[in-house]
Amino acid sequence: AGKVISKQEQQKMVNIAHRGASGHAPENTMEAFHKGFEMKSDYIEIDVQMTKDGELVVIHDTTVDRTTDGTGKVGDLTLEEIRQLDAGSWFSENFTGERVPTFEEVVDEFRGKVGILIELKAPELYPGVEEKIANALIERNMATPNNNKIIIQSFNHESMKKSKELLPNLSHGVLTGGGWADVTEEQLAQFASYADYFNPTMSIVTDELVTDVHEAGMDIFPYTSRSQEQALRLFNLNVDGIITDYPEHVYHHPVKN
Ligand code: G3P
Ligand code: CA
Repeated sequence: AGKVISKQEQQKMVNIAHRGASGHAPENTMEAFHKGFEMKSDYIEIDVQMTKDGELVVIHDTTVDRTTDGTGKVGDLTLEEIRQLDAGSWFSENFTGERVPTFEEVVDEFRGKVGILIELKAPELYPGVEEKIANALIERNMATPNNNKIIIQSFNHESMKKSKELLPNLSHGVLTGGGWADVTEEQLAQFASYADYFNPTMSIVTDELVTDVHEAGMDIFPYTSRSQEQALRLFNLNVDGIITDYPEHVYHHPVKN
């Protein structure tokens, strides 16, 4: 038997699996991304950084300490060193042996299957990271007009301006934290000159903010929903998408009996 959901819940809501379906599998691993795909998310969200030898890897923190069995800064380790680390057992022993994926691996595995929301994490630490990402996408013929399956975002707004110049056909997003609750129309207009998405921490989202972002011509994907209540609150505020650790909290369409 299906579950009855309201009309509002049935409307199309973009479902973004945060660091993959990270409530169910270790964040930013292939297992978490596969889980997001299986759970029918529209996008998987990935955090991209650069190794000492200039390779793009998918990991959230600027050190490997929390999510692997190693220690040290991502930018001080070579790809070979990072690939030896276990990125799964911290989450559960069922995921022992998961590796830190490379950006190219994730793109090659998931392109054509699910959208990819690419976050440039701390790009100020990795000069040239925008070009590397742009080149990887251009080489694969993915930087084409209307490719809405790729979105690039960052808390570093200068990095997004630069990326937009390198990849004018692709959509970009600005991530904002708690300090942006009083964002002005002028600031939103400035963001809209290079970005298509304004993606705030969910705690600052109000009806008024959603209206202002829409009036500035952008969509809004708040982060990070971790409960059904949080997802429903965002639904009721008419956001365009929800970045969540639990894709099952964000329904796409009526569930049939
Ligand atoms: O996609 C938005 C969200 O991922 C930003 O915060 O710290 O989880 O990367 P964080
Ligand atoms: Ca992220």
